[in-house]
Amino acid sequence: MPVAMITGATSGFGRAAAYRFAAAGWSLILTGRRSERLEALEQDIGNKVPVLTLTLDVRDAEAVARAVEELPAEFREVTCLVNNAGLALAPKPAQEVDLADWHTMIDTNITGLVNVTHAMLARLIATGAGASIINIGSVAGSWPYPGGHVYGATKAFVEQFSYNLRCDLKGTGVRVTDIAPGMAETEFTLVRTKGDQAASDALYSGTTPLQAEDIAEQIFHVATLPDHININRLEVMPTRQTWSPFTIDRD
Ligand SMILES: NC(=O)c1ccc[n+]([C@@H]2O[C@H](COP(=O)([O-])OP(=O)(O)OC[C@H]3O[C@@H](n4cnc5c(N)ncnc54)[C@H](OP(=O)(O)O)[C@@H]3O)[C@@H](O)[C@H]2O)c1
Repeated sequence: MPVAMITGATSGFGRAAAYRFAAAGWSLILTGRRSERLEALEQDIGNKVPVLTLTLDVRDAEAVARAVEELPAEFREVTCLVNNAGLALAPKPAQEVDLADWHTMIDTNITGLVNVTHAMLARLIATGAGASIINIGSVAGSWPYPGGHVYGATKAFVEQFSYNLRCDLKGTGVRVTDIAPGMAETEFTLVRTKGDQAASDALYSGTTPLQAEDIAEQIFHVATLPDHININRLEVMPTRQTWSPFTIDRD
């Protein structure tokens, strides 16, 4: 059975994707920082499909490279890498945020994603036709909004990095896709507000946000397309989310 490696599998899209791939019989390499959640996942899924859990901070390039180097034989031939680990912080105007929060977003969403990709490229190329890298970007990478500052910019990086990877991977059979979700109800807003459950509940109340399973389904769909099809970018929003008009500062 094919192997999928999913970063940020302890919550949200990554966790839902783990269940989706497991339902189809894929072997799984599941990573995240919260080992107790990884253990719970292993207990839940590990009796159905082979599961390897790795407690890993994607920002730690050395640890990422070592973990990939030391993959047990049965998990070495990876067919799909889902670069999902990421976060937004500081939902305030740029002029009011802590610099540390900007650095955390850059270190996780850009440096972390690059760390994992670099470590995994040789493995994916060895797998060849049918392999894919699925990067989780965001609508924030294309559409500006107040408070999006560095988060949106990191996701714009994910989009362009995905396209550029495609150029270099020409002829290897490895596909690259940027999946860009809109508003989805996960722990994302809880993390963004540093634990403000009321703010998180308020954002998702009275509307119909995407659920983690909706994006997991898209991830699985992209990963299981015929070898000759590469979706470059997939932007997915809730039907009830659209854009605002330009705003104008007036006297
Ligand atoms: N929800 C949305 O509205 C939305 C929309 C567009 C894009 N996205 C993107 O979708 C991805 C998944 O987010 P989500 O909505 O599923 O949020 P989530 O429920 O908060 O899940 C985020 C996952 O990323 C992991 N993670 C964060 N920092 C990490 C680090 N330094 N090292 C390793 N893992 C790390 C977390 O695991 P640990 O804490 O255990 O490490 C967690 O499993 C992110 O890239 C996010 O930017 C989300």
